[in-house]
Amino acid sequence: MIHFQTRSDLIAKLNTLKNEGKSVGFVPTMGALHQGHLSLVDRAVKECDVVVVSIYVNPLQFNNPEDLKNYPNRLEDDFKLLSLYPDLLVFTPTFLDVFPLDDEHYKVDLGDVETVLEGAHRPGHFLGVGKVVYALFDLVKPHKAYFGSKDYQQVIVIKKLVEVLGLKIEVVECSTQRDPNGLAMSSRNLLLSPTEKMDAAIIFKTLKYSQENVSAYTPQKLQSVAKSFFNKGSLRLEYLEIVSAAGLKPIDDWQQKSVCCIAAYCGKIRLIDNLVLN
Ligand code: PAF
Repeated sequence: MIHFQTRSDLIAKLNTLKNEGKSVGFVPTMGALHQGHLSLVDRAVKECDVVVVSIYVNPLQFNNPEDLKNYPNRLEDDFKLLSLYPDLLVFTPTFLDVFPLDDEHYKVDLGDVETVLEGAHRPGHFLGVGKVVYALFDLVKPHKAYFGSKDYQQVIVIKKLVEVLGLKIEVVECSTQRDPNGLAMSSRNLLLSPTEKMDAAIIFKTLKYSQENVSAYTPQKLQSVAKSFFNKGSLRLEYLEIVSAAGLKPIDDWQQKSVCCIAAYCGKIRLIDNLVLN
């Protein structure tokens, strides 16, 4: 692992490697790394000559200052995990490294995909994600970028961003890694107690229940039945929506591929997860 702290050092190294014809894979993260992140790194290492992992907690995507304050910071542990990959380029920028001019010139309209679900419940979240991902893409200029499907909507938003801006970057979606009880791996799980981690299994149970009951109900009915199923657990549901997998729009039948998306509070911690249903 080689550690870069400034944009100029990273850009210089990447220019040399690209001039040698090397392909570049990119795994953007906010640190507090877990097996889910490592599965992205593993895939990137298999598919690309050079892999950049960034660790940057982007303040622009937090609509809740408490959430930003509590976001886990485990830089030393992150370095330990990444040091197992000898040739990785690990980038830990400051705000000014990511946004050397300002972050206000980014004006990209991604349409409905950024205003529904997470976008509706976390106003400004995807504007912040778009700004940082665009800035990091512009800096690293990767051939491929890797994102986990746990943040299903984020993957759709980033694919749209790449399409709208005409970027020559392949967005690679990697499957969600789960604990044995089904809980999707997330940096936020570090903030859960062991009991809360067990309670949070209701999220995946509900997603599986929804998947298993597609043929029994219409999408609207399944949405309400699945909410009742979820509410037998102790988490507080923020939303459970069954939408089209491509455009995240409400659906009337099962003709199109669909996805069930859940956001819920386990104690004070907000968790999200999803499952493609058909
Ligand atoms: O998924 C994340 O960890 C973040 O949203 C990302 C893509 C690194 C942007 O800050």
